[in-house]
Amino acid sequence: MNKARIILDSDFAVSEVDRRLFGVFVEHLGRCVYTGIFEPGHPTADKNGFRHDVLDLVRELGPTIVRYPGGNFLSGYNWEDGVGPVDERPVRLDLAWLSTETNRFGTNEFIEWCRAAGIEPMLGVNLGTRSPDEAREYVEYCNHPGGSHWSDRRATHGYREPHAVKFWCLGNEMDGPWQICHKTATEYGRVAKEAAKVMKWVDPSIQVAACGSSHRAMPTFGAWEQEVMEHTFEEVDFLSLHMYYQNPYNDVREFLANIEIMDRFINEAVSVCDAVAAKRRSPKRMMLSFDEWNVWYKARTDEDHSKPGWPVAPRLIEENYDLQDALMVGGALIVLLNNSDRVKAACLAQLVNVIGAIFTEPGGAAWRQTIFHPFKLVAQNAHGTVLQTKVQSTQFETKTAGPIDNIVASAVHNANQRKVILFVLSRETADSVDLSIELRGFPQSKACESLEIAGSDLLLTNTAQRPDAVQPRETENFSLQPNSIIAKLRPLSWNFLSLSY
Ligand code: AHR
Repeated sequence: MNKARIILDSDFAVSEVDRRLFGVFVEHLGRCVYTGIFEPGHPTADKNGFRHDVLDLVRELGPTIVRYPGGNFLSGYNWEDGVGPVDERPVRLDLAWLSTETNRFGTNEFIEWCRAAGIEPMLGVNLGTRSPDEAREYVEYCNHPGGSHWSDRRATHGYREPHAVKFWCLGNEMDGPWQICHKTATEYGRVAKEAAKVMKWVDPSIQVAACGSSHRAMPTFGAWEQEVMEHTFEEVDFLSLHMYYQNPYNDVREFLANIEIMDRFINEAVSVCDAVAAKRRSPKRMMLSFDEWNVWYKARTDEDHSKPGWPVAPRLIEENYDLQDALMVGGALIVLLNNSDRVKAACLAQLVNVIGAIFTEPGGAAWRQTIFHPFKLVAQNAHGTVLQTKVQSTQFETKTAGPIDNIVASAVHNANQRKVILFVLSRETADSVDLSIELRGFPQSKACESLEIAGSDLLLTNTAQRPDAVQPRETENFSLQPNSIIAKLRPLSWNFLSLSY
């Protein structure tokens, strides 16, 4: 039997949770939009063509903000193509995914969909093929009240009231050579600064995020952030981070060591931002938007990235998630919470079909992938203040991240509801762990609810035939003590504990 200990003190907080931490991402890529969220003619579709089976699952998942329209797609996108009468919209070649874009779904449909789902929109401006000029016009179209060319166009398109989009991304992964009109840090830094400036002149209430590195292994990581921040520090509110977790050793322990890599990535990005602040003697602290993150390693072949013949909505990067992927996603959510003093927004990439939390069949069913479950539990329950989580556990050695703890945890204090919510991952493969959670400065606990995601088959997936093969199960493997709780964690389990006091 393994033992571990967590100490929580009601006075030792990391930060209030910014609810934008539980965002998702919808890109014009494969079947995320078409036959994902939007499928006119589907038995559950409404007059807008929105699939209600998907909308119901999205409401259950509980995301708070949704990034759109890309992704790599963004860097070739003309936002004007996607507004106005649908039959007059141009059909375009999308060079990011070698697909045909019909533009039957665009900004106004997206905003309508966000309202139906109860989610805040996050829009991106194209800084690949386009310039600050189209970016400021896009803000004018969406947010200006009226009496100008683009705001009046919005009204003629049926939307007199502004969309009031508050969060804007300044391009996408502009450091990546795969990007349409990839830029150097100098080129991007300059254009991002000017775009942010004119966008905020149109609507000073918006917040904007500059592109950081596409992932931590980029050769330019660090240098890119530094130069982009030097250019944009005064104008932008966020530096964006992206990362997809892989399983190169085909070994669950190595896979789950990516949790430390995510944590390091965040801390490294914070260090670069703060170094730029220090050089400027600036008290400003740049916040981070981790606006693409997920597990992605199975659907990575050339065939997964594009199909011949410029198809409409082909099956691209449709990752089929298993139990160990759910553990990894649960671990990543713990990292986001524990860094909530600097990470104020994040987007699980993506929402449907394309590395998606939800999977659909055209004309058919929709179901929850395994990764849906940890996301839902965190998005629904992380309200309040993240507490500092002191973990003492046995360690193990990894190639990926060196020596790491068997236990990873975060805790959120919801004072309004008199609850402490814990999310705990056990990376112990063989034994159960007896976890003692000491609560300091809290009234005595009265009750506990506990759920776990675990199982003997790490490769188990959810399918149309068995949509609930992997899902959380209630446990009673805990005992309440006066100022602590002892929980027994199964090997390789992700656990949700809700303590009421
Ligand atoms: O989410 C899939 C793709 O991954 C996005 O289009 C891009 O930004 C990233 O490389």
